[in-house]
Amino acid sequence: MSNLKNLDLTSKVGQKVNLEISFPVREGGAWKKLSAKDIFENKKVIIFSLPGAFTPTCSSSHLPRYEQLYDSFKQAGVDEVYCVSVNDTFVMNEWAQAQDIHKVKMLPDGNTDFTKSLGMLVSKDSLGFGQRSWRYSAYVENGVIKQHFIEPDVEGDPFEVSDADTMLGYLDSKAKAPKSMVLFTKPGCSFCATAKAALDDAKIQYKQISLSDAVRQEVIRALNASATPSVPLAFVDAVRLDGTEAIVEWAKSEAKKK
Ligand code: BEZ
Repeated sequence: MSNLKNLDLTSKVGQKVNLEISFPVREGGAWKKLSAKDIFENKKVIIFSLPGAFTPTCSSSHLPRYEQLYDSFKQAGVDEVYCVSVNDTFVMNEWAQAQDIHKVKMLPDGNTDFTKSLGMLVSKDSLGFGQRSWRYSAYVENGVIKQHFIEPDVEGDPFEVSDADTMLGYLDSKAKAPKSMVLFTKPGCSFCATAKAALDDAKIQYKQISLSDAVRQEVIRALNASATPSVPLAFVDAVRLDGTEAIVEWAKSEAKKK
């Protein structure tokens, strides 16, 4: 039997999402009910849905890229971005924490109500997953689906159109994705703190990797970044910035472009 027997690939553009659905969520140690009304009414919302928290493609690409492009979505006029999965709120919260997600909001659809209402519920029994969501993304204005990107009906777990870059391209064909930046630091480093302050002032996104004494020399030497291995050290879209001064100057020049 096809995994996709209940998948409804017909266009949902113009359709209203079911505003009667609610999502029990755990916030600050207490139960709260998020209603679809609160999420969608009078708001411009992106939803993207995936087969499961902690699964490989969802964790390495689907979710993190929506987080990375969150500020670009906001600049394109979007109010909120939600990640839907047929999982419970505890699992979704743990996944968000493990993935360092602070901007995208989690929407646990453990009862499958929302996913089913969009015809996106599929059986993944062969993997021992039970009922899960097909991968898709949608842009919803005031509860009405304006556009969606549903993965094609092919074997396996296609991931071709529901990605964050496709959604950003739809919302603003001229939008620029932020640069990818990683900043190597070490605990208690005042030069690193200066570099971070300059990046934060310039509102530049970066991932910080704090290197312990045990690994720092070897990591920095392996990157061949400096004759005398030291931090802070940054890479921006494969360009190396060695030391506080270079990072601060670069941050200032980026801030001027904004
Ligand atoms: C993945 O994200 O790679 C995945 C999702 C569902 C089942 C298996 C793998």
